Amino acid sequence: MPKDQRPVHKGLVGIVVDTTEVSAVDQVSSSLLYRGYPVQELARGCSVEEVAHLLWHGELPDAAQLAALVDTERAHRALEPHVRAVVDALPTSAHPMDVLRTAVSVMGAHEPHEDVTDRAALADASLRLFARLPAVIAYDQRRRRGEDLVEPRADLDYAANFLHMTFGDVPDDVVLDAFRVSLVLYAEHSFNASTFTARVVTSTLADLHSAVVAAIGALKGPLHGGANEAVMETFAEIGDADRAAAWLDEALAAKRKIMGFGHRVYKHGDSRVPTMKAALDRLVAHTDRQDVAALYDALERAMAERKGILPNLDYPSGPAYHLMGFDTATFTPLFVASRVVGWTAHVAEQRAANALIRPLSRYAGPAERHLG
Ligand code: COA
Repeated sequence: MPKDQRPVHKGLVGIVVDTTEVSAVDQVSSSLLYRGYPVQELARGCSVEEVAHLLWHGELPDAAQLAALVDTERAHRALEPHVRAVVDALPTSAHPMDVLRTAVSVMGAHEPHEDVTDRAALADASLRLFARLPAVIAYDQRRRRGEDLVEPRADLDYAANFLHMTFGDVPDDVVLDAFRVSLVLYAEHSFNASTFTARVVTSTLADLHSAVVAAIGALKGPLHGGANEAVMETFAEIGDADRAAAWLDEALAAKRKIMGFGHRVYKHGDSRVPTMKAALDRLVAHTDRQDVAALYDALERAMAERKGILPNLDYPSGPAYHLMGFDTATFTPLFVASRVVGWTAHVAEQRAANALIRPLSRYAGPAERHLG
């Protein structure tokens, strides 16, 4: 066999694999647009439900469309007995991402056989899945704390009900707004690893739940969604703002990656960070936790000085979720609850113009040989 000289694009860096109308990530301006709208503008005033409609259908909803989406979402919020039974069978030592991945798999097994050519059925299934995830995440955090299930409230919007099911009460406006902002900012981000995973699975004409289960697996890793959890682990390790620079020097000397910093696409800053940081600042003032802000600023400053690498969205969202009262291990499931909208929008787009995703590889193993 002649030596294979084809170039290898490790990590698919710089490779454009398809077109998308769902969102645009611009490397030069560091901007992120959902269906043409800058994400910062959407985070300023839109509900999670409105942004979900935009991502799924291409336009913000009118009153009737929003009412229809809200009605269906509220009708599917309760934790179903067959899902609860499986969650209860899992140990509380399991990572919440493992619990959520398993729960989505169970939901898929209870769905009727999916006709992958039926676009309306996919839209319905996507909305039902979006509606069902908060109950699993909220219940899982509560059971770890030895607390009982909290039933959903149909008089609350998606974000407020999510917090109600997690904490048993309706939070004040500062917490609610920070949570809503985080969910809008996390909802979509073009061909990131988990979305690409969902598209790969979809390209085989597999069902929606298989695509989402696979995407959850991809999101779990600390180079992707797991980074927001890892930021809190970093903060715990550093302890105090005064130690941030010395800690960073040691970490960089040990060739450690500093979680919540850097990005494959954005090299001049992540456009979502200022919006999330402003929400974090309001939480800091609200909870009187200037220690968190001091540590945040000290590490960000030291990282800019040493490496010139800027924070990504996971850097402010980790401490923000902490100040909202979530357990650290719940942070990535919150990311799933939001990103499921983007994943399912991409599943629809992939199906509408499908091509099986099957790249090539350059063989680097032993030359041809024979038995005996
Ligand atoms: N901590 C320390 N060094 C980092 C770094 C980080 N968070 N991010 C990048 N670098 C370094 C790289 O090691 C590389 O150094 P080198 O040239 O000496 O090898 C240099 O900066 C350039 O890296 P780059 O090629 O731009 O990174 P990438 O595109 O391969 O990786 C990430 C992007 C996201 C995987 C990487 O920045 C990372 O691991 N970040 C931490 C995890 C994280 O926050 N993930 C969430 C992403 S939204």
